[in-house]
Parts: sequence; C-alpha cells; structure tokens
Amino acid sequence: MSNPLAKVTVLSNAGVSVVIGTHPEHLPFIVHWGAHVSDSLAEEIANTADPARMNSSLDEARRFSIAPSASDGWSGTPGVEWHSEGIPAGGLRLTAVNARRSSATFTLVDARLSVALRLDYSIDHAGILAVSGSVTNRGGGTLDLIALRHLMPVPARARELLDQTGRWSGEHRPQRRDIVDGTTMRASRRGRPGHDSPLVSIVGTVGFGFRRGEVWATHVAWSGNGEYVTERMPEGAGALSSVVGGGELLLPGEMRLGAGETYTGPEVLFAWSDEGIDGISARFHKRVRAVAAYPDRPRPLVLNTWEAVYFDHDFDRLALLAEQAAELGVERFVLDDGWFLGRRDDTAGLGDWSVDPGVWPGGLSRLSDLVHSRGMQFGLWFEPEMVNLDSELAREHPDWILAGPDGPRLPARNQFALDLANPLASQHVFEQIDDVVGSSGVDFIKWDHNRDLHEAEKPGGGSRVHAQTNAVYALIDRLRGAHPGLEIESCASGGARIDLGMMRHAQRVWASDTNDPIERQMIQRWTGVLLPPELQGTHVGPAEAHTTHRESSLQFRLITALFGHAGIEWDITSLSPDEREAVARWSAVYREFRGLIASGTTVRADDVDDGAMLHGIVSPDADRALFAWLRLTTSATAHSDRVPIPGLSTTRNYRLELREELGEASRHQVADPDWISRNHNAVYSGRLLGEIGLPLPVLNPGFGMLLELTAVD
Ligand code: GLA
Repeated sequence: MSNPLAKVTVLSNAGVSVVIGTHPEHLPFIVHWGAHVSDSLAEEIANTADPARMNSSLDEARRFSIAPSASDGWSGTPGVEWHSEGIPAGGLRLTAVNARRSSATFTLVDARLSVALRLDYSIDHAGILAVSGSVTNRGGGTLDLIALRHLMPVPARARELLDQTGRWSGEHRPQRRDIVDGTTMRASRRGRPGHDSPLVSIVGTVGFGFRRGEVWATHVAWSGNGEYVTERMPEGAGALSSVVGGGELLLPGEMRLGAGETYTGPEVLFAWSDEGIDGISARFHKRVRAVAAYPDRPRPLVLNTWEAVYFDHDFDRLALLAEQAAELGVERFVLDDGWFLGRRDDTAGLGDWSVDPGVWPGGLSRLSDLVHSRGMQFGLWFEPEMVNLDSELAREHPDWILAGPDGPRLPARNQFALDLANPLASQHVFEQIDDVVGSSGVDFIKWDHNRDLHEAEKPGGGSRVHAQTNAVYALIDRLRGAHPGLEIESCASGGARIDLGMMRHAQRVWASDTNDPIERQMIQRWTGVLLPPELQGTHVGPAEAHTTHRESSLQFRLITALFGHAGIEWDITSLSPDEREAVARWSAVYREFRGLIASGTTVRADDVDDGAMLHGIVSPDADRALFAWLRLTTSATAHSDRVPIPGLSTTRNYRLELREELGEASRHQVADPDWISRNHNAVYSGRLLGEIGLPLPVLNPGFGMLLELTAVD
C-alpha cells in the first residue's frame, strides 16, 4: 500500500459511489466517481490512487483535491479563488469531516486569511451527487471571493463532450466535441442561464448515445450567472484524466465578504450512468420529481392566449376563447402579456402590476370568474423582475433600476431589471402581485424574464446578479406561501431560464417561444435530458408557426405537444370543424396518458436516421408505454430498418396498438410493413420489440405515429 495513512470516505446510493481519501498531510482527494464500489474496493482504489511522479513536476504524487488550487499543486481551473487585500487563498487545511453513508461534510480553513470553507457532498435516492459549499470570512478584513467551483475527476475513457447551445426560439441544440488538453469553459454572464445554456454538460466514452456509453454529467442548479468547466491537463487529475464541474460565475467585486459574512453557492449536480444519456435523464427526472415544489396534481391542459391575441385584449374575444377552450377540455386558461397598466405593446408598462382600467374596466374578475365557472384555472402573465422606463414605477423609483454608472442605457425589448435585492423594491412588487393574484383569483403565474442582465448594478455600483437571483427565488416562495396552490411557470423569452435551482420554486418551464413542431421536437428532446416531460410546457399552435412561418400538419403538431405539459397556443375560434374534433380527441388522449407521462421513464432510440426520431415514455414497471415514431426531414435511404423500441421488459409480451385518433401519418411508401397491415393490435414479445425491433413505416416529413404498448402478462 503506497498510502497507508489514507482514510477513505465512501458515499454510495442508487448504484453510484464517490470515494474520497483523506490524509493528514493533504486535502481530501477524490479518487472515484462512478459505478457503485464496495468498501473494500474503495479502499483499494484509494490506496492505489497515487500516480507516477512525472518529469518536471511536483516531487510528490499528484492528487485531485476537493478544493483544488495552486496551494495543492493544481495548475488547472481552481476550485477556490479568493483574496484579501491581494493576499490569495492558500494553505487550506482540513479541520473536520462528518461522513455518513451517502453524505459527507468537509470543513477546511485558510488559516492565513481566517477563511472557513465548508463543502457538502451527498448522493440522493436517484444516484445524483450534489455538491455545494459555503465560504465564511472569519477574519477582520474584507474577503473578495472570486470563485467557488466544484470539480470532479473523470477517467481517460471519457473522451467526448456533449453539451447544448441555442438562441431565442432555437434553444437546446446539442454540440459535441472531443476532449483534448485545455479548458472548455461555458459561462453565462446573462443573469440567467440563457438560451445557449449548456443545460447538462456530459462527457462520456466514444460514441455515447441515448442508450449506450458510460457518461458523467454536470448541471449547475442556479438561475443566475454560471460556469461549466471541462478540462484536461497533461498531468491529469490524480490518477484520473479530465475534470468536469462548475459553479456560480461571480462578477468582479460581486462577492466581498465582510467580517463574519458567508457566501453560500448553488448546488452543482453530478450524474453518472453506464446506460447513456437516458440513464442520466432517469436520474435527474427522479430527483426533480421528489423536490418539494414538484406539483402534486395532474398537469391541467392549458390554453395560453399569447399567439391567439397578442396585446389585443378585448373581453368579448377572450371570453369566446375561454368558452371554446372549456369545450375542448382545457383546464387552465392563461391570459398572457397586455393586461396591466399602460401595456398596449412592449414599450411600456412593465413594473405597474395593476389591471389597466382602460382595457379591463371592472378588473380581471369578470374573465377569471367566467374561466372558473367553466371549471378551468385562471393563469396570468407577469414579468416581476422587469421595468419599462415608460412606467409609473420607473418614474417614481428610478433608483430601483439596476444600471451601470451612466444609468440605464442598454435596453433590451425596451426594458431594464429592477433591483429586487432592495427590500423596498421587492416588497412593492410583492404587494402588487399579491393584490392581483388575490383579487382576480389567479391560480397560476407565467413568470417571464425577457432580457439578459447587463450592468446589473445596484445604485452606487456593485454587481447584483447573485443577490437578484436569490431575491427572485424568495419572491416566488413568498407569493406561493401567501397563495397556497399557486403554480409558477419559469419563462425567459422562452427557455432562457431552465435549471434545477428554479425547479425548487417553479412548477413548469416554457421551453421555447417556438411552437413549430419540427423545432419543438429537438428542443423538447434536449430539454428533456434534464427535466421530465410533465414540467415542460408543450403547446399546439396554428398550421403556420408564428416564429418560423413553416407549415406543418395538425397530427404532427398534436403528437409533438402531447409529450409534455400539454396546451394550446392558437386562436381556437378560427378552427375548422375537423380541426376542432381533432383537438378534442387529442385533449382526451392527453388526459388518458398524462399519468404515464408524469411518472414514466423517458427513452430515446439511437439507431434511427438523422431525419427521424423514436422516443417514448415507459411506465416504471414497464407494463405500459407510449411511443412516437416521427419523421422530421426526408432520409437518404428508401426503407426503414428494424428499430428496437427501447425501455421495454424483454421478459414480457406486449400488445402493440397504433393510436391514430390524432390523424393518420402520411406515408412515403406503397404499403405498410406486413405486420401492420395484418393486424393493428397484435401481441409481440418484449425481446422482439426491444432487442430485434420492428420495421416501421416510412413516413413523409412532418408526420408521426403514436404506438401504445401494453403488457399482457
Ligand atoms: C415572452 C414570452 C412569450 C410571451 C411574451 C409576452 O417573449 O416568452 O411566451 O409571454 O413574452 O410579451
């Protein structure tokens, strides 16, 4: 044993282990994160964790510590960075370890600067490792915290990096690259994760996919500025190769801790799986479904008025929309932007959260009463963090606007952010929203955030993104506390604020402003790596999508919107009788399957051509499943191969039924495969379905098929 003094801390849960060694002369060092290991194997790993001493390197074996920095010989991106009057972090020493079976807390001290660092590691019932930390200034001076990042080493077989990028109406596009020496830093300085958020940064074995490969994933559970790091140094990370992780991105001077003050950073979540990206998603979905804020009622079918009327609010028109929505089985009617004081377009009104008497004489109660009387919930749009200069709020309290030294000078969508960390400002916004929610019977808030934060400084200077982010969480919680049952949707020009920090407070996200189903299939798939489908708003829009002007078939739009928290964003008063019937059938199908959607496992097939998708949701005991076989673009090949249907039990038999109530898919073939023509309702073995696969029909682009599978034994 090369390291006889090492003690080993083993954290294990749900098939995952993290092994951390402690040694009197070193900081705790991470030697394993991955498949479950026994205590004796953990001991062996720790005792063999010292790699060769390299040429032109430290004279001692390199370890990768829980707080890597120059002071323990780490030349990569530091885990801890702070200074006091120019004297940097250094000489960290472990002072306490408190370890249990699946969690451990390490306390470290920087004696020179009197700084205490607390690091918490825990693995939950889903196998997700959560790492969080806090930094306390125990000295008398000011401590400037630059970064607290949580980094984990991964083995050399993690050779590829897959994360996401995007833009407005085109969020969550995957991008993949090889891991080579150097640092891949994905940072958000937008005051929100952004449309281009990496969302989940995944490294894995060559060619990892949805169903295959060993993968290690990172998610920063925070709605403000953040960082995702993937880094490989020639000297490796202890006996392992690269490091992955992240934390909050702190702006210059943002975190100055006075004597006795503490910074608490966001959780960074790490998920490992040897079953590809689907394995990662299964873990994240399980974790999210267990948080306290997770909704406890079936997800109501929504109608959102935005693309139906935009700012053109008129009681009669909206009342008709509500009546027709109820007839179609809608259960939540959401009045979008345009109802409050002075809000006739997007140049004015943000900040004045009282009903505009010019547009809504007598208030919103007339509409909300009508909505409630038809058995629907009433939802309302707010953008609580924002202000237009053309508003009473901005005129009365210009000092509540976050801005740089020259005042508010970089408008985006004509708006600026309010300093909600100022208790007076947040109290004012709370009172206004509280009043409208109470007096208008609001059951649901679509909570928007339509701009990046630039020069988000408090009056007199000083970045406010960290404080703002916590203030938003607190404001949501306060409103939900004051109005039990109130649900919140996190929207940010579509999907620019999707993260598991927000999902401790909100009950769904608006994944994107585009309802174009081709775009949506991609957006929902990749948002779904992190979030279970029932937390993603998925709406059916009109044939010609407002955001792309692409036309698509109704059946494809309906199938696309089915796999989520379904809704309608369409002027349904313009529907033809056929369209109305199809939407009503879809509404019933949604009610039939929403329990499965909200409890099942998301599965996605790898082996289909690039223009197609096969994805589904399988119940936890694999006795029921719903799949969509979709064609987004044409393919080079003429035929469709056998496609294994993932996630089923190979020891059971299943009845396979084509569900065509939403409309038949247009085919690009002379005739269906024989198995379909022979019998729409046959029973097949799980092995045939799941391992061998069935040849599926060749569809025209923009069409899809729903397949229902029910175990018969
Ligand atoms: C943002 C949202 C949209 C809509 C508009 C209203 O763009 O993402 O869904 O609510 O604001 O102004």
